[in-house]
Amino acid sequence: MVKMAVVAHGGAGPGPERQTNLQRAVDVASELLLSGSSAIEAAVEACVILEDDPVFNAGTGGVFRNDGSVLLDASIQTSDGRIGFVIAMSDTPNPIRVAASLLDEPINGLTGSGARAWADERGHVNRAVEGREPIEGDGDTVGVIVRDSSGEMACATSTGGCSHRPPGRVGDVPLPGSGFWVENSRSVAATGEGEEITKALLSYRVSNRVSSSQCDSLMEAMRWGLDELIPNGASVGLIALGNEGPGVGLSNTVMPWASWIED
Ligand code: GLY
Repeated sequence: MVKMAVVAHGGAGPGPERQTNLQRAVDVASELLLSGSSAIEAAVEACVILEDDPVFNAGTGGVFRNDGSVLLDASIQTSDGRIGFVIAMSDTPNPIRVAASLLDEPINGLTGSGARAWADERGHVNRAVEGREPIEGDGDTVGVIVRDSSGEMACATSTGGCSHRPPGRVGDVPLPGSGFWVENSRSVAATGEGEEITKALLSYRVSNRVSSSQCDSLMEAMRWGLDELIPNGASVGLIALGNEGPGVGLSNTVMPWASWIED
């Protein structure tokens, strides 16, 4: 029997004080799963909890770009082979909802004003996101991976972008294989310095390390990814979930993360 599971993180960098906030998202996802929701529904609603919490750099808590703008990225991928992502959206408190609504469209991703126009046509909330100044040790992303009762998995990620980046800069979060990856039987999500994560194609390569039998476990693959693919000094964290067992997390810096698995 498949055991339902959730694993989530609150970004590479922030301290343990964000753990309670993060746990709320895991609790929401697990309650949804227990009441029959799909992996997609649970991952999206948990991600919305994190986007609505101003302590996280995503949605409402998105940090200012260098010019004072607030531009949000989000992505979702499913184990049945669908992807949706949005890049640099303004006035969108919950970009993960827009990304999720792309899952059943003939296009995968949208960016900037085109993404906002597309969201307007479909009634997604259009409201200014106040944003905030980056603070030292700030997190950069939120991520949730869910496995539902049918064994389907979904991975949702969202960010205001790493601190001190210009408008128009694209990080890892909306790039498949970099900030997130889902295959039939496993999923990986990354957080931290997007440039380094992107150069490493980190999420895909960590997942592939297991599918190619070069590592025996996701934990071993994550350790390999952080040690071998991330240069010294770059703060990066990972969460991962396979087709059985609980989710796992590993970071080379402080990263609040939490997991749940069905009894
Ligand atoms: N990891 C988030 C970013 O680089 O934008």
